[in-house]
Amino acid sequence: MPHYNLKVNGQVRPVDVAADTPLLWVLRDSLELVGTKFGCGIGQCGACTVHLNGVPMRSCQIAVSVVTGMEVTTIEGLSNDGSHPLQKAWCDHDVPQCGYCQSGQIMTAAAFLKGTPKPTDEEIDGAMAGNLCRCGTYLRIRAAIKDAAVVLQKGGVA
Ligand code: FES
Ligand code: FES
Repeated sequence: MPHYNLKVNGQVRPVDVAADTPLLWVLRDSLELVGTKFGCGIGQCGACTVHLNGVPMRSCQIAVSVVTGMEVTTIEGLSNDGSHPLQKAWCDHDVPQCGYCQSGQIMTAAAFLKGTPKPTDEEIDGAMAGNLCRCGTYLRIRAAIKDAAVVLQKGGVA
């Protein structure tokens, strides 16, 4: 079994898994970082979104062998204590319903706001279109992203 030293949430995490194991399963099963969810497994829902070197990616579609040397950030690493402006805005707006899609939503939104600090509604909807929510929380997601954007513009910690 190949050995990998992954960089996950600022730590080196050794794993011994087959080279073609999807990153999602390594995160969940080997590293017990279960905030990242399995939704569809075919790159269509966004529930498994993590950051690779700051870029949102679908971890169900990425083999573990591809991410060696890259910085992997999961929802558990977005902030130390749930204090990222998006996480606070999510609480303020009671965004989740069942919650299943929400870590993927937040990870996509976090990367989006770095590149688009003053988003319009249309820009938010476009950026988030690939993250599906079976509970239909889209309006609360948009509202929370707008609030978080304001906080980040004022120097909130990202
Ligand atoms: S589980 Fe990866 S995109 Fe749906
Ligand atoms: S909150 Fe249930 S799928 Fe999004």
